Amino acid sequence: MNDSGTYRVLVLGAGAAGMMCAAQAGPGVLVLDHASAPGEKIRISGGGRCNFTNLHCAPGNFLSANPHFAKSALGRYGPQDFVALVDRHRIPWHEKTLGQLFCDRSARDIVTMLVDEMAVAGAELRLATGIVDVGHDGAAFRVETESEGRRQIVRAPVLVLATGGLSIPKMGATGLAYRLAAQFGLNVLPTRAGLVPLTFTGGTLDRLKALSGVAVRARVTADGPPFDEALLFTHRGLSGPAVLQASSYWREGSDIGLNLDPEDTIRPALRHERRTAGRKAPATALAAHLPARLAQDIADSADLPPRLADCADAALDRLMQAVRDWRVRPAGTEGYRTAEVTLGGIDTAGLDSRTMQARAVPGLYAIGEAVDVTGWLGGYNFQWAWASGWAAGQAI
Ligand code: FDA
Repeated sequence: MNDSGTYRVLVLGAGAAGMMCAAQAGPGVLVLDHASAPGEKIRISGGGRCNFTNLHCAPGNFLSANPHFAKSALGRYGPQDFVALVDRHRIPWHEKTLGQLFCDRSARDIVTMLVDEMAVAGAELRLATGIVDVGHDGAAFRVETESEGRRQIVRAPVLVLATGGLSIPKMGATGLAYRLAAQFGLNVLPTRAGLVPLTFTGGTLDRLKALSGVAVRARVTADGPPFDEALLFTHRGLSGPAVLQASSYWREGSDIGLNLDPEDTIRPALRHERRTAGRKAPATALAAHLPARLAQDIADSADLPPRLADCADAALDRLMQAVRDWRVRPAGTEGYRTAEVTLGGIDTAGLDSRTMQARAVPGLYAIGEAVDVTGWLGGYNFQWAWASGWAAGQAI
């Protein structure tokens, strides 16, 4: 077995956080990744255009057992810092909606930028390299790698865990960072899939499935803040940005609330029509405000007289309750197979929020999605990867 050398820093994972960290940390850094290309999740993100940050990024857009932990890194490396880097590389971008910034051309621009930044800093990138074993020999971390059947050992006094979470195993996601953190005595909080479609069974699934393909703006609430975005009915249940957002807050066994008229504009419109166009069926009147299939389903569920004129206030209240407070209980989520992120992970209680260094293990750092900090949909997760990677890279 070759001893291929001693480095200043070993970074495990050439994803968003690992590359950002290596680009800051400079020469003497070796980045290892089992994938054959760096930043694969960046490449596929945002429909291939990478929603690389969010202008409105604030600590309140993140979930963590310690909501204060992310403040330091996010405060020192914000969206404008990343935008400045993107601008320096002359990468064209645009704001889509809600402060979400996307590449004009391709997410590959961001990957190329980070690879270039690492090269300029003098960091070395080794791809298609498996991590066989990691230990500490008293003086340095020792990582045994395997590439093309050959095993090698590399050492460094600093080891950065940046192998991300468990989402999309087909793309090479593994629990390596969690295993290594636990091996070095760090606490790892239970993980679950986040930003993920919700699945249903039985009669609820039959009802939702019948609406498959319908998209509508809605306010979706699980066990957290409400999200006003698009809702999509699918053959497995519910998806779309509002549902993905709420899924990160959803806890097994609880209902989610769907409000299909958050601004409460339908009730006065129907009251008006009851007077002026009372011969209409309630579903027909509702279809002026909601997709027709959905309007029919909701009207059916409210058990109304056939004509709007015959709907007393109590009947209209029933209809509006069905529109504005539709409660459904998910059976589960689609899981890591389709989740954009992993909630939970390396407990921030064991990390220094300024540097991302493990308090009890000098030289060990954890960054990115592997840490128990998870952002909303909309560029927040990359911003956390950049900020935590930057914070660690500055410190080492
Ligand atoms: P990341 O997953 O990027 O990198 C981890 C690296 O470690 C990978 O290169 C992997 O190959 C490597 N690795 C893993 N296990 C290993 C092992 N055992 N040995 C060696 N290497 C190993 N966020 C956002 O803000 N805007 C967006 O538009 C999107 N879009 C999006 C789309 C989809 C489909 C997904 C799945 C996710 C997103 N995200 C997102 C989330 C975002 O991609 C995610 O939060 C960051 O990539 C996390 O960065 P990390 O560097 O922590 O992990």
